Amino acid sequence: MTRNRLFSLSTLAFTAVLACELAQAAQAQSAPLAATPPMGWNSWNHFAEKVTDADVRAAADALVSTGMRDAGYVYVNVDDTWEAGRDAQGNIQTNSKFPDMKALADYVHARGLKFGIYSSPGPKTCAGYEGSYGHEEQDARTYAAWGVDFLKYDLCGLRDLIDLYSPNDAAKASAMMRDAYLKMHLALVKTGRPIVYSLCQYGADDVWQWGEAVGVNLWRTTDDISDSFRSMALIGFSQAGLERYAKPGHWNDPDMLEVGNGGMNADQYRTQMSLWAMLAAPLLAGNDLSKMDETTRSILMNKEVIAVDQDKLGQQGSRLGPLQTWVRPLADGGKAVAVFNFVTDDVPQPVTLRFKELGFTGPVHARDLWAHKDLGVLSDAYTVTPPQGGVVMLRVWK
Ligand code: GLA
Repeated sequence: MTRNRLFSLSTLAFTAVLACELAQAAQAQSAPLAATPPMGWNSWNHFAEKVTDADVRAAADALVSTGMRDAGYVYVNVDDTWEAGRDAQGNIQTNSKFPDMKALADYVHARGLKFGIYSSPGPKTCAGYEGSYGHEEQDARTYAAWGVDFLKYDLCGLRDLIDLYSPNDAAKASAMMRDAYLKMHLALVKTGRPIVYSLCQYGADDVWQWGEAVGVNLWRTTDDISDSFRSMALIGFSQAGLERYAKPGHWNDPDMLEVGNGGMNADQYRTQMSLWAMLAAPLLAGNDLSKMDETTRSILMNKEVIAVDQDKLGQQGSRLGPLQTWVRPLADGGKAVAVFNFVTDDVPQPVTLRFKELGFTGPVHARDLWAHKDLGVLSDAYTVTPPQGGVVMLRVWK
């Protein structure tokens, strides 16, 4: 064998490997990100600015030991307050609560989980920490090098700049905001690492109409949720009408779960879990996973409700008429139906579901997703009485 032949063989092998790698990279790029609403945990609702590396590791461990990871909760997302300033080259630094972000990401990945982080398109984040303004590509490269799989990008500091530059020019302000989100999307794509992109600007400027165009996978539709029935219900029930904007890869985000944080009772937390599933909303637990009681665990881990949230059709549910009855079409041709009792001082009221009005002809099969009970074959109607602040959720099929 001549030298030349050897050379051309190795060149061929190299070319084949390269082609294979390029194909894999292209596949990774084109594999749909957030094909179903992202599920996981985020530090903000419980830990807020106090979150530390140790809290995040404990959350990752708990996702595994409780079975939540296997139920689909895979993202471990560090929210605001991990940032310090920048070094002389402009690289973002972590503060003393997070001594080594790459090591933390490795810890999370080693448990079969994915790692998420937070920043702002402005100079400062909402909590006043360092934002990505002017360093978008550099930060995206840093995130990719750390092994980040999810970025929440929160307007805050940029809102102040927008106000400064175009206080009375709504069109210009809107363009600035869209540009800022597109800029980070392009920076993330350039890294070659698939990173779920979560936009947070509280629903301003009808973000559901342009979120997809600037490359985001989920967009917050409202102001921050808090751990009260009033806040949760106002946010959740206000989502009616947004269903046409959600689809695989692009989701309305009515903010994170408060289940287990203590401000609502079990029926009310079942309402949040059910409503978020009907809305095809991201399911990001916001409680201290290392100290969960059995009720909280059973709510977060209701696999039948999770299956509705994660249904492959990806069609967000709609409200049926003025009462809080919601219907969501499912990939198998069936429907999820949830009846809520959402006025806190309301006494439980019976609500009769008529299957014809839900789009079925003739008898249907039904299953109660909280009672975990088959209801058998039902002819034309079924009456449910959700408890105060609570819900009855069914799966109905032919
Ligand atoms: C905003 C967001 C919250 C959280 C905080 C962090 O308020 O909407 O979800 O990320 O900032 O500062």
